[in-house]
Amino acid sequence: MTPLASNGSERLVKSRQRVADHGEVFTPEPIVDAMLNLVKAETERIDSRFLETACGSGNFLVQVLRRKLAAVETKFGTSEFEKRHYALLGIMCIYGIELLPDNIVECRENMLEILSDYLGVDETEDFFRAGAFVLSQNIVHGDALTMLTSDGQPIAFAEWGYLGKGKFQRRDFLFDTLTQSAAFSVEGNLFADLGMHEIFKPLKSYAAMSVSDLASLAVVKSVATLTTDTA
Ligand SMILES: C[S@@+](CC[C@H](N)C(=O)[O-])C[C@H]1O[C@@H](n2cnc3c(N)ncnc32)[C@H](O)[C@@H]1O
Repeated sequence: MTPLASNGSERLVKSRQRVADHGEVFTPEPIVDAMLNLVKAETERIDSRFLETACGSGNFLVQVLRRKLAAVETKFGTSEFEKRHYALLGIMCIYGIELLPDNIVECRENMLEILSDYLGVDETEDFFRAGAFVLSQNIVHGDALTMLTSDGQPIAFAEWGYLGKGKFQRRDFLFDTLTQSAAFSVEGNLFADLGMHEIFKPLKSYAAMSVSDLASLAVVKSVATLTTDTA
């Protein structure tokens, strides 16, 4: 969803200064698709988790979402209830970190537009607002290197799960802790025999939530721009 240049091609650079300061060059769609095809089966699994630590305006994340929604349509297209809940689960499993505030807004907008178009919902409806809330949690404005949010807090990610019957669970984990999980799994590691749950304790666990619970947490600041943020 990169903006188009005047000749209709994707605009891959916003300014030379931003390239110099932040290495901001967006990836064209054919390359995104080719790269996602390297892990095709995962991109087509509704509950596979993707994190992009320099997500820009979401060129990779929107394509992952499109593929997950195609999987939702194939599996649950005939049941409006399941289709809506699994589409929300799809977006719950996509995460991003981005340094620049305008990119964060665009990334959330781009993803919310895809979800709302697919479900045929607008800002008056719970599924739209729940999607906006999830994006405000999952697409983090921060620095992936220092692992701090833009207001200096340690980055934490919500692990969402669908419990069925319209209920979702949420547990939060520190990004710093999650990055250590691969090291703990290595054979021979002192802790390799322990279950992950014994080492990786959630920062916070929540009671099961419905779509309307999630929707009530959203603040859609401006309908026109679909700017999403937490309360
Ligand atoms: C090369 S662009 C790629 C954007 C997007 N992934 C794409 O392929 O279109 C790199 C992005 O990372 C962001 N960025 C740079 N340093 C970062 C950091 N330390 N933490 C998070 N994001 C960062 C930039 O603002 C920019 O949007």
